[in-house]
Amino acid sequence: MTARSTRPSPAPNAAPGDLPPRFPAGFLWGASTAAYQIEGAAEKDGKGPSVWDTFVRRPGAVRDGHTGDVACDHYHRLDEDVALMRRLGLGAYRFSVSWPRVLPTGAGRVEPRGLDFYDRLVDALLGAGIEPTPTLFHWDLPQALEDRGGWLDRETAYRFGEYAAVVAERLGDRVRRWITLNEPFVHMSFGYGFGVHAPGRALLLDALPVAHHQLLGHGLAAAALRAAVPGAQLLVANNCTPVRLRADARGAADRAAAEAYDVLHNRLFNDPLLLGRYPDLSAYGTPDPAWGGVVREGDLDVIGAPLDGLGVNYYNPTWVTAPADPSAGLPFDLAEPEEAYARTAFGWPVVPEGLTELLTELASRYGNALPPVWITENGCSQPAGLRDGARIAYLAGHLDALARAIAAGVDVRGYFTWSLLDNFEWAEGYHQRFGLVEVDFATGARTPRESFDWYRKLIAAHRG
Ligand code: BGC
Repeated sequence: MTARSTRPSPAPNAAPGDLPPRFPAGFLWGASTAAYQIEGAAEKDGKGPSVWDTFVRRPGAVRDGHTGDVACDHYHRLDEDVALMRRLGLGAYRFSVSWPRVLPTGAGRVEPRGLDFYDRLVDALLGAGIEPTPTLFHWDLPQALEDRGGWLDRETAYRFGEYAAVVAERLGDRVRRWITLNEPFVHMSFGYGFGVHAPGRALLLDALPVAHHQLLGHGLAAAALRAAVPGAQLLVANNCTPVRLRADARGAADRAAAEAYDVLHNRLFNDPLLLGRYPDLSAYGTPDPAWGGVVREGDLDVIGAPLDGLGVNYYNPTWVTAPADPSAGLPFDLAEPEEAYARTAFGWPVVPEGLTELLTELASRYGNALPPVWITENGCSQPAGLRDGARIAYLAGHLDALARAIAAGVDVRGYFTWSLLDNFEWAEGYHQRFGLVEVDFATGARTPRESFDWYRKLIAAHRG
């Protein structure tokens, strides 16, 4: 993923049913959510606090002081939500398991009522013909573990492996596809590097051990899942981005900045999983391959054990330049594209062809080491309301880009859109709406948007 110039977008293929059925037979159509963003019931049935329960109470941490205490109240509306998924025709549903709902202090005592909830969810999904696809960690670390150092502490990786074994023992008779981690890059950088997400630590590059400990936790969890679930299909959901330079920034220093950003965002997480080694981190002042003792002998064998799939979360490319002040700490500055891209309500540029670029580059970078890919998140925030043509155009454009990557030879097996429901969008609270289904957060009422109908027809057309 080196820097490159931008190419014009293919025309979005927006009308319902307009998208040519260019997806392989058996292609999996899904939607994603995450526990803290939808469940609510923050203290129900013995659930322990997570770092997000703590962080949302920090003044100024979340826009307008919103919290996930109630969120979509999915914990109490499970049946209604599964009925929506059935209506949509989903082949699979990606949700996350809340670690502190299952182990209130992160380790030791298991809360059976927490496991019961996921048991019911799995049964309801299977009853509706939908494959449950749980993610074990979508950022809601038990607060008790954070109090002991969180992901800065190597011990957290071992606790994650133990937690995976507990969940696998309960659900492994019915769940085949598992995702261990969600976006370890975003959790490291936003949660521990810049402090804009829980646990709110602003350590900049001192957050790097969080990358290794999450990946080690993945490896230990994967081993536990393989031991407990014969035929388990194991994935990690990585946030991946093509790295681009502006047209006016193409000097050697800019190219070095693009390489450095690619290392931090993409390769730091993909290389150890797929190649069993870390990229060179010299640009980050970490030339020692053992990172000063953080990476221990044997760790990379655990992390690099074969995966059954790579989950790719794609939202947009990232533009960078050489740092204006190289002494400021990071070897790049983030930049804005010069092109006038359409923007989501979040202000993110809409660049569907970035998905084709990302996938074809992953295939050429990793070759045979790249397992089949599932797009585990892709979607956009749009203004409230049921008429969301801009979301349809976004989805159609990205699916068109995905079809192009498949046509170019990338083995992509499924697509999960983000998100089924409007939900708690982290530091933005309820201000960003990503749902195919609108949620009225005062009443909990769910109303499908036009995009829901569009996706329903698309899925039906491919099935038919
Ligand atoms: C995360 C989701 C989030 C989405 C939109 C991803 O980074 O996994 O939890 O809601 O992006 O910001």
